[in-house]
Amino acid sequence: MNVVETKQDLRNTLESFMNNQQSIGFVPTMGFLHEGHVKLIEEARKANDVVVLSIFVNPLQFGPNEDFDSYPRDAVRDDAIAIQAGVDVLFRPQVEEMYPEEPSYTVSVQNRVNVLCGKSRNGHFDGVATVLTKLFHLVQPNRAYFGMKDAQQVAVIDGLIEEFHFPIELVPVQTVREEDGLAKSSRNVYLNEKERAEAPILYKSLTRAKETIVHGERKKQVIIDQVSSLIESESSGTIDYVELLSYPDLKEVEVINGKIIIAIAVKFTNARLIDNITIEV
Ligand code: PAF
Repeated sequence: MNVVETKQDLRNTLESFMNNQQSIGFVPTMGFLHEGHVKLIEEARKANDVVVLSIFVNPLQFGPNEDFDSYPRDAVRDDAIAIQAGVDVLFRPQVEEMYPEEPSYTVSVQNRVNVLCGKSRNGHFDGVATVLTKLFHLVQPNRAYFGMKDAQQVAVIDGLIEEFHFPIELVPVQTVREEDGLAKSSRNVYLNEKERAEAPILYKSLTRAKETIVHGERKKQVIIDQVSSLIESESSGTIDYVELLSYPDLKEVEVINGKIIIAIAVKFTNARLIDNITIEV
């Protein structure tokens, strides 16, 4: 695996692949890799000649009271996982490499952001769209891989690729879960023992909701109430949101029809967990 830290080294490394018309699969991450990331790398490995992984904890997508400084980082462990998973090129820039000065241009996302996490994380998706715009220009991948655990992020990137005419195929990859259903996340390490035991209720509440819809329920509010009361009764976490929207355009629906997403965010003492399920009715 080739590890590069500068834009110039990345360009030099990718040049020969591009000249040889080799396809590039790109997996952008913020590191502290887990099985969810490995799944993205594996999917990229299957469909492309070259796999590029980026590890960059992007300050632009963290709010002033969010966990940028304490976001988990472990370069040695990440390298071992990336090599094992079959990454060809690892791009790990420092903040100064990506943002040499205070940015004077940023991407402002207008659609699909005033719901779910976007509602409480002001500017978060502008930060994601800005860094991905830079990374897409640097890597020029044929395909880019993102986990459906952050389904709103996938929806926003879908819009970014479309509106900015990136010649990139977006590949959404299903959420990887622990045996008890908890979605894998770098932030799970922040849960205390009791919270970790309670956390599987997030996915359980979503699968119960899916069953209710499969059995014929079509009223949004019934589903939201069912999910909320299950989480409230079986966990000490505080619900940030439980929403049911159309997917991927993330519009309000009253009656369940077509492709929808049920998405939840729950705050525990030191971790805010998100999860979702998409259903085609
Ligand atoms: O999902 C993430 O890890 C980040 O939001 C991403 C896509 C790497 C952009 O910084």
